Amino acid sequence: MTTDEITDLLKEAYVDELETVMNYLTNAIVLDGIHAEEVKESLEADIQEELDHAQILGERLKQLDESPPGSEGFEANQHSLQPPEDTTDVQAVIEGVLEAEDDAIETYRSLHEAASEANDPVTEDVAVTILADEEAHHTEFRGFHKEFPQN
Ligand SMILES: [Fe+2]
Ligand SMILES: [Fe+2]
Repeated sequence: MTTDEITDLLKEAYVDELETVMNYLTNAIVLDGIHAEEVKESLEADIQEELDHAQILGERLKQLDESPPGSEGFEANQHSLQPPEDTTDVQAVIEGVLEAEDDAIETYRSLHEAASEANDPVTEDVAVTILADEEAHHTEFRGFHKEFPQN
């Protein structure tokens, strides 16, 4: 059975995914320099996955007879993922991505817990599927964080 907590978390996660798409896209475009290439490629690959996540969440909301929000329901949160003033500051973007992925992991853990408590196995499955992707993204950028030179 679904609860308001579940639909609220699904809507919040949907909006967060779309904000992530916007910031990954922007940073994949703006970064410069020899250290940027691999990070840009990784961001480009993740953009499609984050968009897929939004679609999965939106479809689940539809199944629960709810609508995913439009842009008027949007409030920006990812301050650390804004394009850096110094476009060679790859480290700032890596740290922003790690923070965004940490937030996503926390949201999907909460969604999993709420769905489990409400005996809603389909939403639980959605949460676990997306959580696995976010953990993989986090691991990849943790690797970049170790490797890239500190400014
Ligand atoms: Fe995502
Ligand atoms: Fe992610």
